[in-house]
Amino acid sequence: MAQRKLDAAAEIELLIRARYPVVYVESYEETRVLGILQDIADRRGKRLFVWTVTEGLRRYGAGAAAERATVSSRETDPMAVLDIVGRSKENAVFALVDFHPFLEDKKVVRKLRDLARTLKASYKTLVLLSPVVNLPPELDKDVTLVTIPLPDEAVLRKVFDDIVESLRDSPKVKLELTDEVCEQLVKAALGLTAAEAENAFAKAIVYDAALTADDLSTILAEKEQIIHKTGFLQYYRTREDIDHVGGLDSLKGWLRKRGQAFTQRAKDFGLPAPKGLLLIGVQGCGKSLTAKAVSSLWQMPLLRLDLGALFSGYIGASEENTRKAIAAAERVAPCILWLDEIEKGLSGVQSSGASDAGTASRVFSTFLTWMQEKEAPVFVIATANEIAQLPPELMRKGRFDEIFFIDLPKDRERADIFAIHLRKRKRKPESYDIARLGALSEGFSGAEIEQAVISALYDAFDEGAELEQRHLEGALTDTVPLSRTARESIDALRSWADTRARFASSKP
Ligand SMILES: Nc1ncnc2c1ncn2[C@@H]1O[C@H](COP(=O)(O)OP(=O)(O)OP(=O)(O)O)[C@@H](O)[C@H]1O
Ligand SMILES: [Mg+2]
Repeated sequence: MAQRKLDAAAEIELLIRARYPVVYVESYEETRVLGILQDIADRRGKRLFVWTVTEGLRRYGAGAAAERATVSSRETDPMAVLDIVGRSKENAVFALVDFHPFLEDKKVVRKLRDLARTLKASYKTLVLLSPVVNLPPELDKDVTLVTIPLPDEAVLRKVFDDIVESLRDSPKVKLELTDEVCEQLVKAALGLTAAEAENAFAKAIVYDAALTADDLSTILAEKEQIIHKTGFLQYYRTREDIDHVGGLDSLKGWLRKRGQAFTQRAKDFGLPAPKGLLLIGVQGCGKSLTAKAVSSLWQMPLLRLDLGALFSGYIGASEENTRKAIAAAERVAPCILWLDEIEKGLSGVQSSGASDAGTASRVFSTFLTWMQEKEAPVFVIATANEIAQLPPELMRKGRFDEIFFIDLPKDRERADIFAIHLRKRKRKPESYDIARLGALSEGFSGAEIEQAVISALYDAFDEGAELEQRHLEGALTDTVPLSRTARESIDALRSWADTRARFASSKP
């Protein structure tokens, strides 16, 4: 435990001195870690070699080129590089960058274990450097893990202050920095590495030769880039706000009450950060809409996780993808992680094992464990419109804060939804009898009400007339709502929800 308190660089140095054979360094900051290793190597009179799959093994650091290349190889095969390390007579640190995919291969794992034994009796250390941890259990005893956390606010503040300091005397750059603006800009950079933050600040300055509150968006855009790189996470920009959600008063109240829940003030008060919500309900009644609206209500970025994309071709990769997605979400935290239509992504879980060597269920349990234990302020919103396919573990206490059931809207709620969609299309709801529209649209979902408004607009436009009550009423009589044909499945959903979920709308 005492080691925990050391900073990462000191910890790595200690491990190398104590001849730990294999050290796994988890970090996004490759250059920084290689710099740390270089310093250690210099201090300890060791050489540093770096291997990548594209370049093979090379001597690293200043003066490396002038030196006689004792170990240098274009060898890009992971088995072969382990051989070279084993045979080498150097007093050296060997850093293998992004070696984690090769740990899927049982032969590589075996070889690494054998190598670890011989390294213990040598002055060689193997360092595996990677942004994700992917350690097969066989290696637990032979490999020591060091995690280099992303820089915290204080570190980023230092980066920021250094930049600002260097600009003080520059007449060309306009600085408009109150304490509050500085704090905002630094906070926005949380989740970036020190180098990325420096770049983001620099970019913000270069853009308009100024550093002001307006630069917040440049820095947030940098974070968006990071998310983009992961592939299965999508940074979702949305303009939906909570006033665009009709009805659902209990759910909205729950959300409003937790708007400040991620602040330091709430923490000091003793409040735990909310974990997440599961929204189950009838098609087209506002599940996805609510997820989007929470993002603007809480002013947190919305990341949509594509469950389908997580299940990539080969076994093992899916789990790595899951870990990557989780890590990326934690990097931009506080944020909302949105899993839309979760039942589609999880439908394989129950049959998993027979069908896909258990990948789906392993991905799922990685996720559940994370949900249970996560400390980073990542709020999960999962939506589903079927319950039959949802694994029961998902519903267990401790995962989500609450399971809400979203039913078809009631009279008043439907009137509300009419008003929202009329307003969205630049019509004044006061000009129509929306109470009557609410009453006439019994059984309609929110999506169907929206469609009715659109279809009424088409009718009016076609006539060359302004939208009138009769167009809206006409559109209603022309539509057979889904609830009429899907009566049974909706009833089943309702009776399930009756005992297991909280209703998103209060009972009238
Ligand atoms: N409660 C509501 N208030 C206002 N508009 C709504 C409401 N419910 C649905 N809508 C409208 O219908 C559209 C579709 O709704 P949404 O995508 O949220 O449905 P969903 O519950 O996610 O359905 P699905 O199960 O099909 O994914 C929304 O974009 C919105 O325009
Ligand atoms: Mg939806």
